Amino acid sequence: MSRIGIIGAMELEVEELKSCLSLSKVTEKAGMEFFEGSLNGAEVVVVRCGIGKVNAALCVQILADLFEVTHIINTGVAGSLNAALDIGDILVSRDALHHDMDVSALGYEPGIVPQMDTSVFKADEGMVESALEICKEVNPDIHVMSGRVVSGDCFVAGKEIKNRLISSFQGDCAEMEGAAIAHGAYLNHLPFVIIRAISDKADDSAEMDYPTFECAAAKHCARLVKALVTRV
Ligand code: ADE
Repeated sequence: MSRIGIIGAMELEVEELKSCLSLSKVTEKAGMEFFEGSLNGAEVVVVRCGIGKVNAALCVQILADLFEVTHIINTGVAGSLNAALDIGDILVSRDALHHDMDVSALGYEPGIVPQMDTSVFKADEGMVESALEICKEVNPDIHVMSGRVVSGDCFVAGKEIKNRLISSFQGDCAEMEGAAIAHGAYLNHLPFVIIRAISDKADDSAEMDYPTFECAAAKHCARLVKALVTRV
């Protein structure tokens, strides 16, 4: 039987899922509340990890050790790095990497984590295919595609950094937790997928667009995640 850990960074990214949960237990650990229960008949643990990669990585380890999850879904919003991804669209991760890992002073390419056998963390192909398929069913008016999530501990809101994330990393969307979740899932041999709805274009308009669109974007993701858990 699958037991799926569902991680959102912010309350608005998990509140809809929590409201649909048939709750059995709440556990507090490392400042996070883990909500165990049944979502559409699937066994899940829903948690708001907080913003950024450290919070996200800690959360994955707790889900692995304390809750013994078998799969991880990360849901939330992101800034678009790809002209084909407009506000409100959904990106399903093909893979994820850390755009702020930089050991280039020692000869490593930006993004490479030295002494690891990979720095590009591949999402589970079955979960990716299911998410793409289900998204078309439950969000028929929303454009969905698969692509690369690039993550760092910064909100991307400028042309210069946006262009660098595209040219150096071929990122399709930028956010602040996905690669840490992917990295943690990889180290714990857990299949994962990241599902992100676009809240802004990660450029000079991002500061204005983000607060306007984050709520609607998060809702698109929640609808998809609710359906996806039944087919993992
Ligand atoms: N989450 C949503 N939009 C983002 C952006 N532009 N940069 C980083 N994280 C985000």
